Amino acid sequence: MASKTYRICTLPGDGIGPEIIAEGKKVLKAVGERHDAAFECEDHLIGGSAIDATRAAGEEVSALPPATLAAARAADAVLLAAVGGPKWNDTTPGAVRPEQGLLAIRKSLGLYLNLRPVRMYQALRDASPLRPERLEGVDLLIVRELTGGLYFGEHTRRHNVPGAGVDGAAGDAAVDSMEYSEHEIERVVRWAFDAAARRRGRVASVDKANVLETSRLWREVAHRVAAEYPKVEESDVLVDNCAMQLVSNPAQFDVLVTENTFGDILSDEASMLTGSLGMLASASLGSGTALYEPSHGSAPDIAGKGIANPLAQILSVELMLRYSFHMDDAADEVARAVQRVLDDGWRTVDIADAQTPKDHVLGTVAMGDKVVEYLG
Ligand code: IPM
Ligand code: MG
Repeated sequence: MASKTYRICTLPGDGIGPEIIAEGKKVLKAVGERHDAAFECEDHLIGGSAIDATRAAGEEVSALPPATLAAARAADAVLLAAVGGPKWNDTTPGAVRPEQGLLAIRKSLGLYLNLRPVRMYQALRDASPLRPERLEGVDLLIVRELTGGLYFGEHTRRHNVPGAGVDGAAGDAAVDSMEYSEHEIERVVRWAFDAAARRRGRVASVDKANVLETSRLWREVAHRVAAEYPKVEESDVLVDNCAMQLVSNPAQFDVLVTENTFGDILSDEASMLTGSLGMLASASLGSGTALYEPSHGSAPDIAGKGIANPLAQILSVELMLRYSFHMDDAADEVARAVQRVLDDGWRTVDIADAQTPKDHVLGTVAMGDKVVEYLG
């Protein structure tokens, strides 16, 4: 019997989700055996698969069924893979979409803070579209606000609006509203400063204060918090400029803190520094059970082919060990195993290049096995 038992609510979701989460669980199990802990995983429905299952059962169609939310609340941590796919791309008003499940679980669990660490792997320098010399010293942490802004504002569509159509005819007009309160800004900015104080001591607060009122409030709050951290250097970066700096001089950044939508966009951009979106893990923290998921989507085009990169999922397990269970040694072991697997030239197809020997290109399962093998 393991001395400690943790209950994990696992959410495979859609597309490559079930394939990659299996590898995350495999690594968890191996870590448990090495560290005298048991991780009890229980699968629940979310996203498109939840929509299908609730519809088939004649229940209220939902991307986040009540049973899933209850299980997530009761668990010690949530491990999610990915949601979405063309099958559920129904844009008719009122249609339930897989992404709603993801947004609803983040909101319901109060997960206002999303961490996306962007780490360089020496071995993957050539997989990045940037020249290797630009990647020297890149190690940044994106802190994204996760339960506010445009994502959770009012979304409305009006029809037959005079003059809204082409050529002066009546047509559709749409509104998405963006709102932030001081309190919502404060808690993520503060987290960013605390993190920076333990890292290289720099926070870049990203906004669009030359245009948006929410950004002006964001900047005010950021400055107020900054005054409490004399040892951390704060800078304000406009989001368009930040997008440019991320490719021209990414090593200048330490902690980058920003609102929901900007963080969504910038984190996909930043992931390419590592060579692939398939390498970027994330942790969502807040008042309820923490949730860990890769930053990438469900990649429906390669689902079921056994070639998806499970490393972002496995690195999400690393973040779970670190932030939820304070098992830093175990987390370091997982991080090291991934690094050594890459150092030894093992690749999934998304991070392979012309120099990769054919026999070093692994499928999803074989990559998970490799990480487990390298744990020791
Ligand atoms: C992410 C994803 C989600 C988001 C989508 C799937 C709703 O892109 O986690 O970055 O926009 O937050
Ligand atoms: Mg995204």
